[in-house]
Amino acid sequence: MSQSDKVGTPSGVKRVRKAVLPAAGLGTRFLPATKAQPKEMLSVVDKPQIQYVVEECVASGIEHVIIVTGKGKNSIEDHFDYNPTLERFLEEKGKKDLAGMVRKISDMVQVSYTRQKEPLGLGHAVLVAKDLVGDEPFAVLLGDVLIPGENPATKQLIQVYQQTGLGAIAVEEVPKEKTHLYGIVDGHAAPQAPFGERLLRIRELVEKPKPENAPSNLAITGRYVLPPEIFDCLERTKPGAGNEIQLTDAMKILAKEHGLWALIYEGISYDAGEKLGFLKATVELALQNPEFGGAFRNYLKTLKL
Ligand code: G1P
Repeated sequence: MSQSDKVGTPSGVKRVRKAVLPAAGLGTRFLPATKAQPKEMLSVVDKPQIQYVVEECVASGIEHVIIVTGKGKNSIEDHFDYNPTLERFLEEKGKKDLAGMVRKISDMVQVSYTRQKEPLGLGHAVLVAKDLVGDEPFAVLLGDVLIPGENPATKQLIQVYQQTGLGAIAVEEVPKEKTHLYGIVDGHAAPQAPFGERLLRIRELVEKPKPENAPSNLAITGRYVLPPEIFDCLERTKPGAGNEIQLTDAMKILAKEHGLWALIYEGISYDAGEKLGFLKATVELALQNPEFGGAFRNYLKTLKL
């Protein structure tokens, strides 16, 4: 066990209060739906994807959400803002519950916005939030990955950070032939309670390797808790895969210089940024809906598959 693998709650570990949500991407995997609307605003069942992600932040104890937007993303800001005309209209129609629900979306957490002016990559989008984050640890949640459930992945990562003082990223196994779609990590088992064997100390990270070059089949899921030192690593990161500044490459520096955990998190993720993943998320979340999940299940049973 190396010095930095030791168990215990380090003193002076700051609370994770902020989260960065990169939402500047053009959504090319979801055209034509994303031609004139942000992919983050595509609705899964009855709310936009980005609302699920903001709700995950709130359920994980995050107090300030920083959304990194770009051109054509104004509807995201409108969604988390008050809409007095709509609220008044609903009140006047006696729909107090709906008015309250609409208001709650804007009240659930403080949201700030900053813009990534050029699509230079995920790492660059996170770097754009540097001043808003400041000198404290923060979470990163990718808006097109949905991880519904009672125990949010972000909360699990925050627990690792609070316990160890080191950054942690969520990973899950993917089929070997799909490694080129993800950041892939390699780590050695470094079990500690309560995470047990699910906690790995990262040795290597590669962004979107071909299967023959992938160091493992553990893929980065789109949830991260990182120390502020990542910004210095990002500033030293040259364009990588796709000629973009990759967060994965900056984390490679971070892992080497400071240490970084991979957590095989508990939960199921949906890549709602591509069409099949979006459909799977829609069907599964619709089945869980308390209002019409039962009726939807009955409907599905009538389909001749
Ligand atoms: C990004 C990250 C990648 C990660 C993936 C998860 O890639 O760069 O490391 O595995 O999200 O969805 P993207 O899907 O934005 O190309």
